[in-house]
Amino acid sequence: MIDLRSDTVTRPTEGMRRAMADAEVGDDVYGEDPTVAVLQERVAALFGHEAALFTPTGSMANVLALAALVGPGQEVICESRAHILRAELGAHGALTGLTSRTWSSPAGQVDLEEIREMHAPDMGPFFVRTTAISVENTHNFAGGAVLPVQDLHRLRGLADDLGCRVHVDGARIWNAHVATGTPLAEYGGIADTMAVCLSKGLGAPIGSLMIGSAEQVEEARVRRKRMGGGMRQVGVLAAAGLYALDHHLDRMAEDHEHARLLAEACGQDPDLTETNIVVVETADAPAVVAAAREQGVLVGAVGPTRVRMLTHLDVDRAAVEQAAKVLAQILRTG
Ligand SMILES: Cc1ncc(COP(=O)(O)O)c(C=O)c1O
Repeated sequence: MIDLRSDTVTRPTEGMRRAMADAEVGDDVYGEDPTVAVLQERVAALFGHEAALFTPTGSMANVLALAALVGPGQEVICESRAHILRAELGAHGALTGLTSRTWSSPAGQVDLEEIREMHAPDMGPFFVRTTAISVENTHNFAGGAVLPVQDLHRLRGLADDLGCRVHVDGARIWNAHVATGTPLAEYGGIADTMAVCLSKGLGAPIGSLMIGSAEQVEEARVRRKRMGGGMRQVGVLAAAGLYALDHHLDRMAEDHEHARLLAEACGQDPDLTETNIVVVETADAPAVVAAAREQGVLVGAVGPTRVRMLTHLDVDRAAVEQAAKVLAQILRTG
């Protein structure tokens, strides 16, 4: 099977497994796991922030980050297809009491006019006020679209004018960095908090980080424990993340090239595929998914008429070419 359902399906390579086996470990609830400490310091430094906290999932990293910015009864605003709202199953409202409103953009971009219009200032204790703007880069359900960095700088300026904070859901910020050459620290510079994942294109089996100030991360450490996310000798997992940063970051360019190839085979302009995600509109998405499966290709339906496929380090050029052939034939014949 050629598995294009997600970039989360990768399995650790031999080298990564060796790094995991060799990791120095300690009890991380006591703050004594040296490998976790190295990973947290390294990732915080990459994005130019003070501190970072290792979490089991990107969803938890997002919850911890937004909890640092948005109190109960306050609001975060974001694009309508944001993962935090569409795929984190109400965690933010349920766990922190925040509320949300959305704007819509075709490729998930920021809409400064709309954000300015939506922003609710402090009107006293009986009204919801906007305390954070969250953006997703790359934007998963907008087909891996990269948010233009100039827009992000303008967003930072607007947020400062409004007295609002900025969260970046950077589950795939690595792909944005590789696709555009924008330094990770520049992306970090526009954010008050971030969530970044090691378990997507980077190919680690698990792991994400919440990034912010030393104070925010210290508070997040307590919230993580309260949520049952205090982990013990977890350096074996942090080691996979460190290995991935050393060996799997630059190679993402290959995934992006492969995604363009798939997009073209599916009848799309490849220039619209900026990173490793291709979303195709079709009459009957479940039928396409079933037909592809029969021919050895796994893709996902992300709506009744939308099929999504992702490239990653477990699908090589030959597998992508085979998948492209299969999908082109299925989509041509309907
Ligand atoms: C944009 C985005 N943010 C956050 C997440 C959550 O990551 P996790 O599945 O590790 O909770 C995902 C997962 O696909 C994602 O695509």
